[in-house]
Amino acid sequence: MEINLTDEGTDRETGKSQGSRQSDDAAVNLEPEKFQQPGPAAEKEKVFEVDGVSVSYGDSLAVKEVSMDIHKGEVTALIGPSGCGKSTLIRCLNRMNDLVPSAKVEGSVRYHGEDLYGDTVDPVQVRKLIGMVFQKPNPFPKSIYDNIAFGPRITGMKGDMDEIVEKALRGAALWDEVKDRLDTNAFGMSGGQQQRLCIARCIAVQPDVILMDEPCSALDPISTGKIEDLMTEMKRDFSIVIVTHNMQQAARVSDRTAFLMTELDATEQNRWGRLIEYDATEKIFTNPSNPRTEDYVSGKVG
Ligand SMILES: Nc1ncnc2c1ncn2[C@@H]1O[C@H](COP(=O)(O)OP(=O)(O)OP(=O)(O)O)[C@@H](O)[C@H]1O
Ligand SMILES: [Mg+2]
Repeated sequence: MEINLTDEGTDRETGKSQGSRQSDDAAVNLEPEKFQQPGPAAEKEKVFEVDGVSVSYGDSLAVKEVSMDIHKGEVTALIGPSGCGKSTLIRCLNRMNDLVPSAKVEGSVRYHGEDLYGDTVDPVQVRKLIGMVFQKPNPFPKSIYDNIAFGPRITGMKGDMDEIVEKALRGAALWDEVKDRLDTNAFGMSGGQQQRLCIARCIAVQPDVILMDEPCSALDPISTGKIEDLMTEMKRDFSIVIVTHNMQQAARVSDRTAFLMTELDATEQNRWGRLIEYDATEKIFTNPSNPRTEDYVSGKVG
């Protein structure tokens, strides 16, 4: 698939790029058949090739030399203790770190083979193709309908807006709950509904990838379950990268899992995050190669 990251590449007709057309850190104990079976990485199409990526904030290194490939049609989970750089790393995948003045990203991130940080790449186009859902639902102070229609309108998507809105809300498993109150303010929804609204808002502009940074940590278990089911549905159409503190969740929803951990220098004054192990989720949770992964997923450290 060829994806055009420059603004000129946007097909105004469809809004698509031309040419592409709860934090519970308990040990995980799932039945082997419950794991997703991603198949050999070598045979999978790569969405991202992260190569030697380091991120600093000012003088302080936050993530050091991370290399990993992220595959199409999969859910990829980033796990690890607080402060190990999961959010920093996921923000490299849609250039959200550009918005943090002190952040400096080194190394290379290729997106469908193209340098995501190349001179001709339009960050606005990047964030349309690679959408993001945050920890805390952040609907706009507008009606449910206008929350969804906002993105398609500003990106100039053509087509029947009612249909676009319905499709996005159905895609986020929210339609039946809100179809009779589309003109009411989104702030009147429950937290779980607001988060599904944010997912619907994200998918309305037909992205290629959805990044989710702890999307369920502010939600109750029922809403969390709905969003987990949704991720499994959505990965047919979108590649998903999720940061989660909930290891049960990573084990349930993801195909591949990356474990990051904080490393200290000899003085113990400076710390940064490193990628310790990245593999099929089943392997990470049942038979990891690195003892530090084993300690973390078994709940010995955290
Ligand atoms: N905007 C920022 N400015 C300065 N330092 C930052 C900024 N964002 C993150 N950091 C630092 O970078 C390191 C990694 O933080 P990051 O938020 O990526 O970790 P995390 O793994 O997402 O943690 P958590 O699980 O608590 O969300 C931390 O030392 C943090 O203090
Ligand atoms: Mg974080």
